[in-house]
Amino acid sequence: MFTFAVFICLIPLGFCKPLQTRDSQSLFNVTCHHIARVISSASAVYYPGSPQFISDIEHWAPSSTQVSACSVEPGTVKDVAAIVNVLARSTTPFSIQSGGHATSVGFSSTLGVAINLVRLNSMAYDPTSRTVTIGTGQTWSDLFQKLEPLELNVAGGRMGGVGVGGLALGGGYSWLSNRHGLTIDTITALELVLPNSTVVHVTPSSAPELFFGLRGGFNNFGIVTKITMRAYKQGPVWGGVLSFDADKVEAVNAALAKFSASNTDPDGNCLFNFFWSNGVLIAGTLQLFYNGPEPPSGLFSEFLSIPHTSKDLGTRSFLNFTKALSVVNPLKPTHLRVAFSSVSMPHIAVPVLKDIIQQGQYYSRPGVFSTQPFVSFAVEPFYWKSMVRPRDDAAYPHDVFVNPLNLFFGWPNATEDAAASSAIKGAGANITQALINNGQDLTGTVLYPNYALGDATIESLYGANVPALKALRSKYDPKGVFLRTGGYKFI
Ligand SMILES: Cc1cc2nc3c(=O)[nH]c(=O)nc-3n(C[C@H](O)[C@H](O)[C@H](O)COP(=O)(O)OP(=O)(O)OC[C@H]3O[C@@H](n4cnc5c(N)ncnc54)[C@H](O)[C@@H]3O)c2cc1C
Ligand SMILES: *[C@@H]1O[C@H](CO)[C@@H](O)[C@H](O)[C@H]1NC(C)=O
Ligand SMILES: *[C@@H]1O[C@H](CO)[C@@H](O)[C@H](O)[C@H]1NC(C)=O
Ligand SMILES: *[C@@H]1O[C@H](CO)[C@@H](O)[C@H](O)[C@H]1NC(C)=O
Ligand SMILES: *[C@@H]1O[C@H](CO)[C@@H](O)[C@H](O)[C@H]1NC(C)=O
Ligand SMILES: *[C@@H]1O[C@H](CO)[C@@H](O)[C@H](O)[C@H]1NC(C)=O
Repeated sequence: MFTFAVFICLIPLGFCKPLQTRDSQSLFNVTCHHIARVISSASAVYYPGSPQFISDIEHWAPSSTQVSACSVEPGTVKDVAAIVNVLARSTTPFSIQSGGHATSVGFSSTLGVAINLVRLNSMAYDPTSRTVTIGTGQTWSDLFQKLEPLELNVAGGRMGGVGVGGLALGGGYSWLSNRHGLTIDTITALELVLPNSTVVHVTPSSAPELFFGLRGGFNNFGIVTKITMRAYKQGPVWGGVLSFDADKVEAVNAALAKFSASNTDPDGNCLFNFFWSNGVLIAGTLQLFYNGPEPPSGLFSEFLSIPHTSKDLGTRSFLNFTKALSVVNPLKPTHLRVAFSSVSMPHIAVPVLKDIIQQGQYYSRPGVFSTQPFVSFAVEPFYWKSMVRPRDDAAYPHDVFVNPLNLFFGWPNATEDAAASSAIKGAGANITQALINNGQDLTGTVLYPNYALGDATIESLYGANVPALKALRSKYDPKGVFLRTGGYKFI
């Protein structure tokens, strides 16, 4: 019974609901008590009922939360190693959580031991190498707060509350990407606790294989405690949000396709969200960004000439810019169950955007769900020139340029999880077909792991890198300790 419960929990299914038994809970508790005995006073173990436990297991999407036997907040890398050592000697499942924005249950949640890295929140700037070394348990907003007085920035998350750990180990599409590439392209070193609890400093020269595997490979090789990444001088930026009524979205689509095809300014970027409910396109919001006090005239003029329902654009600090995005972004599913999925678009073309509108209408229509769903897709045009690297440079292959499309479904009732799963898959498949019908070549493209469905295959995410990643995982985790934590597994 116990083994069975653990087994089905390990399958990286977006909607897996493992069995929970009293027996397994008290077995897991033995591991919790063991951990409590080996950690220093810089760390702590919490049990159900305590406020710290509740905040440790909490996720952005409530459907990603599981009630663990206990949570542990390590405060030092030494304690992370001690925790891994205890877990390796047990059979207890565990989770590793940074910002808790994973939208697949089990990826950073567990019925066993929930490791929450929140205490790993350091930040140190090295002016000689122009890098910052940051603890992986903080959110990007907390980090931006620390960087602002230094007039520095990093290629991090676009929305504040996301965690450093997940975004940086999965790829990282940033407001700075059009100039500097993905977050993983700006990483110069990582501190890692291996499955055998050895602490290693991973650089391209000291541990090239792990440096490759960690940048896209999430928790397959251990727990990353610190990341060193390039820091860039940051002054005031221009940007914010424009909102549009549904009848203006066609005009926005035309402007998006044009911007995507013609923009060569690495400091300019945008992101467009479509919103549907009950089979109707209800609105669109456009986030605009320019890394400078004013955008060059003309860069966004086509967008700006479309009549909008609200406008919050201006020159502000980078931190204030990210805050302005959070204020208007309605994607705060305080009560909704959530699924993310992704489609990779070589080109952002008008016929495909038209189809995207149809898919949102079709899959949010009454009858698909008995309760009202909330559906939003985000189109994210990037500048191809800054975004490609050789395929074997990092676990997440980005040798073939694509614009990631983020599909988001939210629904209130757990009885409709299966309906949601098939709706989001249907929409993704139909949009992929629309790309093919549009004549786009998908050869060599993969899906972005940080947006993908929980049951996406590793081949669909890591493509030709899969054999190398499987070999690497079995080399560094021969006993399969980290197969007991959720996520995409290189097996
Ligand atoms: C509102 C919102 C906005 C988003 N915006 C962006 C965006 O602008 N750009 C973008 O690229 N993506 C974005 N994403 C997707 C985001 O990158 C992923 O959800 C990411 O995995 C979240 O990271 P986290 O640390 O918050 O999540 P968590 O759920 O804590 O972790 C995600 C995964 O990473 C693993 N992990 C986390 N930390 C570590 C560690 N230190 N060592 C080993 N494994 C670890 C976890 O075990 C888990 O499997 C967004 C998501 C949401 C919900
Ligand atoms: C687990 O241990 C904690 C702390 O000792 C205790 O409060 C709790 O009741 C235990 N839970 C189970 C299921 O044994
Ligand atoms: C950022 O926002 C705060 C609060 O609204 C404001 O006081 C501050 O002047 C802003 N700073 C910049 C540089 O925009
Ligand atoms: C999406 O594809 C499914 C399966 O092929 C089909 O039944 C459905 O009509 C399509 N929906 C749209 C809006 O194209
Ligand atoms: C969820 O769906 C079930 C079955 O359709 C229904 O009985 C229940 O009332 C619904 N709950 C909510 C909160 O809508
Ligand atoms: C832990 O694993 C690493 C990498 O495989 C290895 O170099 C190291 O010797 C191992 N340490 C112990 C104590 O087994």
